[in-house]
Amino acid sequence: MKQSMIKSTGMAVPDRLVTNDDLAQFMDTSDEWIRQRTGIEQRYWIPEDTKMGAADLGYEASLMALEKAGWTPEDLDFIIFATLSPDIMFPGSGCLLQAKLGLNSTPTLDIRQQCTGFLYGLATADSYIKSGLAKRILLVGGEVHSTGLDKSTRGRDVTVLFGDGAAAVCIEGIDTDDSVGVLASALHSDGNFAPALMTELPASRLPQRIPFDLPLDDARYFPVMDGPAIFKKAVRMLPQVTKEVLEKAGLGVDNIDLIIPHQANMRINQAYGEFLKFPADKIFHNIQKYGNTTAASIPLALHEAMEQGRCGKDGDTVLFIGLGAGLTWGSVLYRF
Ligand code: UT7
Repeated sequence: MKQSMIKSTGMAVPDRLVTNDDLAQFMDTSDEWIRQRTGIEQRYWIPEDTKMGAADLGYEASLMALEKAGWTPEDLDFIIFATLSPDIMFPGSGCLLQAKLGLNSTPTLDIRQQCTGFLYGLATADSYIKSGLAKRILLVGGEVHSTGLDKSTRGRDVTVLFGDGAAAVCIEGIDTDDSVGVLASALHSDGNFAPALMTELPASRLPQRIPFDLPLDDARYFPVMDGPAIFKKAVRMLPQVTKEVLEKAGLGVDNIDLIIPHQANMRINQAYGEFLKFPADKIFHNIQKYGNTTAASIPLALHEAMEQGRCGKDGDTVLFIGLGAGLTWGSVLYRF
């Protein structure tokens, strides 16, 4: 039977470190508020006046992952790129990354599932491998949020949360009878909640995609979020989807060695862990260093968890989980 194994990981963040105090220089916020409400201490943003897109960061992360896997770009037979902040409106960041890797016919697929982009990407990669459509897949999550955030006090509830970054994983299909690789996936969405977290403009559905009569600092050009509504939804849906994915795999919470959640808010992940009665030290956090990097957040956390020896040994069972814009939510259970 074919199983999808994570062979290596890589990550990249830009050089510009932005602390909470730095943000307080240009909006009404404070280090204390951001730490207490979110757990975030700092994030990385691309340097001002630099042209750097999701595919550029994704490229750096991919080179690291490919080198660790001992693969060249030519070894890849599929590239999946998850992002909500594509370099340009079209074509997708996957195509741009593919060209940077020096390839010219490898198929690419962009995934626009925001915070759960990595989960949708991993489930998609697993399906491609299990169906025999691909053997060696590069899955990348990459975001450049900082160029699209409202840096005035009006946007403070959203802007303080997000960081730029990318992470990549090399996934290989192997033949084995062992219970390893992607054990089960559960994915969901509810488009009725789209307005709870969205960037509305530019919008193709309007007579003018970029409305001539609006000022360019109109709030609709920036992400807006009903934070408390999403917080409540996350605390409800994450335990449910955990139960669902464990049932699919025929396993229990006790079988999980490490939970790697989407890094949206430390308090969401703590509340989720308490609900599950899961040991707090077995839930991985790095939101304090990077903020919310959306599609990059879970693979970035996986990369660091593996570097720190928190997971990666044969038999380690890891639960990836998250909820975000869409709304979308889901979970993938994986065994090394
Ligand atoms: O990954 C994508 C999915 N997104 C999420 O999972 C986010 C989920 N939601 C959250 O993480 C939280 O709702 C936030 C961190 C966004 C906000 O925390 P909260 O505890 O829900 O605060 P709140 O929105 O209820 O706002 C409380 C107060 C308000 O002031 P008043 O009305 O009580 O006077 C806000 O205006 O905090 C104010 N506030 C801020 N103050 C200082 C909002 N943002 C800030 C800020 N600095 N950055």
